[in-house]
Amino acid sequence: MKLKRILKWGARAILVALILAFLWGFIAYWTSTNDCDRKTALVNPMKAIVYCEYGSPDVVKLEDVEKPVPKDNEVLIKVRAASLNALDAYMIRDAWLNRLIFGLRKPRDTRLGRDVAGVVEAVGKNVTQFKSDDEVFGICRGSLAENAVTPERALVMKPANVPFEQAASIPLAGLTALQGLRKGKIQPGQKVLINGATGGVGTFAVQIAKSLGAEVTAVCSTRNVELVRSIGADHVIDYTKEDFTKSDQRYDVIFDNVANHSFTERRRVLNPKGICVLAGMGGAGVREGQAVGRIAGNLLIARGLSSFTDQKFAQYITKMSKDDLIMLGDLVQTGKIRPVIERTCNLSDAPEALRVFDQGHARGKLVITVGGESR
Ligand SMILES: NC(=O)c1ccc[n+]([C@@H]2O[C@H](COP(=O)([O-])OP(=O)(O)OC[C@H]3O[C@@H](n4cnc5c(N)ncnc54)[C@H](OP(=O)(O)O)[C@@H]3O)[C@@H](O)[C@H]2O)c1
Repeated sequence: MKLKRILKWGARAILVALILAFLWGFIAYWTSTNDCDRKTALVNPMKAIVYCEYGSPDVVKLEDVEKPVPKDNEVLIKVRAASLNALDAYMIRDAWLNRLIFGLRKPRDTRLGRDVAGVVEAVGKNVTQFKSDDEVFGICRGSLAENAVTPERALVMKPANVPFEQAASIPLAGLTALQGLRKGKIQPGQKVLINGATGGVGTFAVQIAKSLGAEVTAVCSTRNVELVRSIGADHVIDYTKEDFTKSDQRYDVIFDNVANHSFTERRRVLNPKGICVLAGMGGAGVREGQAVGRIAGNLLIARGLSSFTDQKFAQYITKMSKDDLIMLGDLVQTGKIRPVIERTCNLSDAPEALRVFDQGHARGKLVITVGGESR
């Protein structure tokens, strides 16, 4: 009798919780909005690339928006150049994961762009490391715009002889390549394979691995064979003709930007104590179903299973690090690495550049210059 009553009350509690969760979801969905809906006139307008809805790259437009004002710890940058990353392409897609992260009904933050190079226009009152007219580069939300704000900790000084376009191509891709190779504990003389060697991250990874003394094998498609050779790859595998996991070669480190092979396949070509670094799942061209499959079925399983083997599979999230960014700036300044820039275009052409980038066959970086001229 008592058990019956407990079950009855339990069922009621679950029902109430479900109704409340449904109501919360419904309210959260309809109240999730963005600044595209505001009707008030702009006080201090500037041009920016925005996306008001999720969808294809066609939702991306050049619009007048309110110029941002730096908070106490932030720097206001006059953007001179920005570059595209796979993240920009992923963010605009109408995918359930995006809606959970970036806004249920509409994207909360309508601005795009993460990499920036530009000139400091103003600083918040707690900023100590930068002043007006300093030339800087780093990570900055909404960098595809005439102006953008970012915390002081996300910027470093731009080396004087590195042009803005090159500086803007470095941050996210360069940091991802550097931190991933470090995760692979790369040593001089080691054999390193880079899968997905010709995108933004891959072209930095090939050159950083070479500068650290590794013997590099690059995996790319036929049209990019010469490109990877020109940036220093010792060996090239054309993935349209040969599957690297079926070769007799063994590697100390696999830096994997694509994750299109199983745990067993990649283990086969790893040395007994080798490390496979899981950097990404294929760049801007990878669609939601494929990405979820690669993350869940591949990255998570491979990493989990590798805890039972001597060959390790390591995952990481790229972190902003001033030291790493300064190091990358120095490598570019001294000519040890050369950013590969497929094309440079103006802010008004950024929607078209994103459409091209979204196909997933970028050769290095796509850079957007702001203010008409480039240096
Ligand atoms: N871990 C992190 O925190 C972090 C941070 C930033 C980025 N990422 C990830 O890193 C990955 C790479 O980013 P990205 O900016 O370099 O992307 P991207 O610029 O869009 O480059 C994609 C590259 O992948 C190549 N590719 C596609 N299919 C391939 C295959 N089957 N075999 C070999 N190469 C293939 C393409 O070359 P072809 O044209 O020759 O096909 C293209 O050059 C992405 O998945 C991104 O999400 C991770």
